[in-house]
Amino acid sequence: MDQLSPRPHLSHRPTSPLSGRTTVPGDKSISHRALMFGALAVGQTRISGLLEGEDVLRTATAMRALGAEIRREGTDWLVSGRGLGGLTEPADVLDMGNSGTAARLLTGILSTHELYAVITGDASLRKRPMGRVIEPLHATGAQFFARAGNRLPLTILGARDPMPLTYRLPVASAQVKSAVLLAGLNAPGYTEVEEPEPTRDHSENMLRHFGAEVQVTEAGMGRHIRLKGQPELRAADVAVPGDPSSAAFPLAAALLVPGSAVTVANVGLNPLRTGLFLTLREMGAKLEVTAQRLAGGEAVGDLTAFYSELRAVDVPPARAPSMIDEYPVLAVLCAAARGTSRLRGLSELRVKESDRLSATAAMLRVNGVNVEIEGDDLIIHGNGAIPGGGLVETHMDHRLAMSGLVLGQTTKLPVRIDDASFIETSFPGFLKLMCRLGAEMTAA
Ligand code: S3P
Repeated sequence: MDQLSPRPHLSHRPTSPLSGRTTVPGDKSISHRALMFGALAVGQTRISGLLEGEDVLRTATAMRALGAEIRREGTDWLVSGRGLGGLTEPADVLDMGNSGTAARLLTGILSTHELYAVITGDASLRKRPMGRVIEPLHATGAQFFARAGNRLPLTILGARDPMPLTYRLPVASAQVKSAVLLAGLNAPGYTEVEEPEPTRDHSENMLRHFGAEVQVTEAGMGRHIRLKGQPELRAADVAVPGDPSSAAFPLAAALLVPGSAVTVANVGLNPLRTGLFLTLREMGAKLEVTAQRLAGGEAVGDLTAFYSELRAVDVPPARAPSMIDEYPVLAVLCAAARGTSRLRGLSELRVKESDRLSATAAMLRVNGVNVEIEGDDLIIHGNGAIPGGGLVETHMDHRLAMSGLVLGQTTKLPVRIDDASFIETSFPGFLKLMCRLGAEMTAA
């Protein structure tokens, strides 16, 4: 979704509390994987709760172009897979829009399918590094041709006789881990990945769910993952829980607006995704988890946030992988908290949909908050009252757009964002949902 006409929005402090019970759209990570794994399996996979955001719809379109049959039936999605190794050459370039996860995981899959494919994306995605997946995937025997700096568009000539990989991740990235594992699916023997710190394990969980043999062992501070190649992948139904990274926005708004109480039901609570909720508790947030259960192999629960007087927090770098997408909205909460917060070890934020480290600092600064970046740390001097009145530049980044709008719920003057359109990539219906809870966000 390249930006044709930006949609500026304005967020005002509401006159009454936020309240209500809601759900948020399905988990983005799990949704991409369900479509991809369904396309690689034999038989029909039924997916309920799929995120129907731009990013995931791009994955559906790409998997169709590679030969899978994918259709919506009622509120479910049905995927008729090609069987492992059965993908066919796409007739055109695969455009993954704004989605790094879609581009990187698909590069993994295609590296061990003997076909020619070209992957591209929007202006944001074409700036993001693909070298982190190309580098390990070379050893499968695939060939890659990319723009300078390993940027998209990327041409892939998949390996004729794929080799399994053994790789130690240089950065904590679930996308890179998953690209290597997905490449290993269509290679003989064992593919092994070692990650220095645990990152979200949706690929490992879902591969098992589809019948693959995946062993995970603790290795130092991280994990060692071993996948047996060429498994019989069998179609398996997937129930996608609500995305905790999306739930973060209405919950954060409730924490900021006096008197509020908001419940988000059926949120995924995979322990490798819940770093934000732990951090919020350290800040003194009143956050309750109820109805905890297992659904489709993933932990889920209902989360209720009550307005809270927040205090500053010091977040260690080791927690980053479990809350990597939540730093922009956490930074908003830190700005409203009393005291100086330090969010440490955020180098990976520089290579997200935008350079989120500098864009988050700029969002706060332009609204009157005292912020510094020291190395890879973000330091926020909160004093409870935020002037606001600034224009947030969102840089084609959905999470900056939503964070800017949440910020405006607590500032003295309204906060303007330059473009709300990219919210569609991960959280369709965000503005309506927030307004139903009592937030004041309008087109401007
Ligand atoms: C994702 C992993 C994370 C995250 C992204 C989704 C995934 O990226 O930021 O939104 O689904 O694997 P990295 O693993 O590259 O940090």
